Amino acid sequence: MEFIDLKKQYLSIESSIQQKINAVLEHGKFIMGPEIKELEKKLAEFVGATYCISVSSGTDALLLSLMAYDVGPGDAIFTTPFTFISTAEVISLLGATPIFVDIEPETFNIDPIQLRKIVNDYANGRKQTSEIPDGLKPKGIIAVDLFGLPADYDAINEIAKENGLFVIEDAAQSFGGMYKNKKACNLADIAATSFFPAKPLGCYGDGGAIFTNDETLADKIKSLRIHGQGINKYDNVRVGINGRLDTLQAAILLAKFEIFRDEIEKRQVVSHVYSEGLKDVVEIPYIPNEYKSAWAQYSIMSDNKDKILSKLKGENIPSAIYYIKPLHLQAALSYLGYKEGCMPVSEQTSKRILSLPMHPYLVRIEQEMIIDVIKKIVKS
Ligand SMILES: Cc1ncc(COP(=O)(O)O)c(C=O)c1O
Repeated sequence: MEFIDLKKQYLSIESSIQQKINAVLEHGKFIMGPEIKELEKKLAEFVGATYCISVSSGTDALLLSLMAYDVGPGDAIFTTPFTFISTAEVISLLGATPIFVDIEPETFNIDPIQLRKIVNDYANGRKQTSEIPDGLKPKGIIAVDLFGLPADYDAINEIAKENGLFVIEDAAQSFGGMYKNKKACNLADIAATSFFPAKPLGCYGDGGAIFTNDETLADKIKSLRIHGQGINKYDNVRVGINGRLDTLQAAILLAKFEIFRDEIEKRQVVSHVYSEGLKDVVEIPYIPNEYKSAWAQYSIMSDNKDKILSKLKGENIPSAIYYIKPLHLQAALSYLGYKEGCMPVSEQTSKRILSLPMHPYLVRIEQEMIIDVIKKIVKS
């Protein structure tokens, strides 16, 4: 059994993948070939956003989004500590300061009540730690749609509007999810997604995309992703990066996108089977009304986490812990001065959470085996 079974997916679309790869090999436009525009058009339509700009990874999608707002030293960017390092790393990389806001215990996403309080604190010169520089200017928010479940954007966008902040949706895990009849990747000023192979829509290498409805931001990001390009390749009007998606990866994504809608529905079925089987033995994921998860991960919580992990391992059932160490406790960000106890919900969650195999090709019999193993441990 695989944690995420990319081999089964490949076998179901083998000829389409090969055909699309061969087309690229034949036309030879490996950088910014015609597949790039075709993919961007299809993804923008799917999400309902005006612009899609494909990029080299989810991390670069976040970085370019911040660069589009000229984020730099002296800026405070509010985000969650319960996420992958990229979310906060890009803030630090630009010389700005990540300010952490704890998560809601049920959804694992940034808590809007705490966000409002902490934004107000910074606007009034109050800091969380003495190491955080004085006089930071609140500039923006990066909310993360963890495990595929969108954050609460009505609340987050309202706080942003009241305080003149931008909102970036880190939708690395949520392409295919929904929030109140709107698709994930179209819930904030800019959204950044990832096509890392294990993501709901993944390529065969690194890749990502940015979505926005703002023409000025879109134009700036298109320039930033190609070395700050102006009217042509050798006209550079700003400092940018090499942030393009490869044509070959776009071709692979086009093949995978053909089955994506069906895969998202299959993920709903898999999650339903897990939740029905496990609801009386562990804490199952909570999906609020009018939300749809893309189910990048199916994560449960239990006081018996260690026992469950070792028993699953003994039965050759793969599992993972997202995230074993919240970002405010990572050595790379220790200069911010956060200590154990600063983000109690994230810290508690990281001690009790584990993720089970999750992909559209998981069969019922495999799921029943997993459910049985967990039930036996918890009831013993
Ligand atoms: C929440 C989150 N943000 C950003 C990223 C970065 O994406 P990538 O690996 O494509 O750079 C990831 C990838 O794991 C992620 O899970």
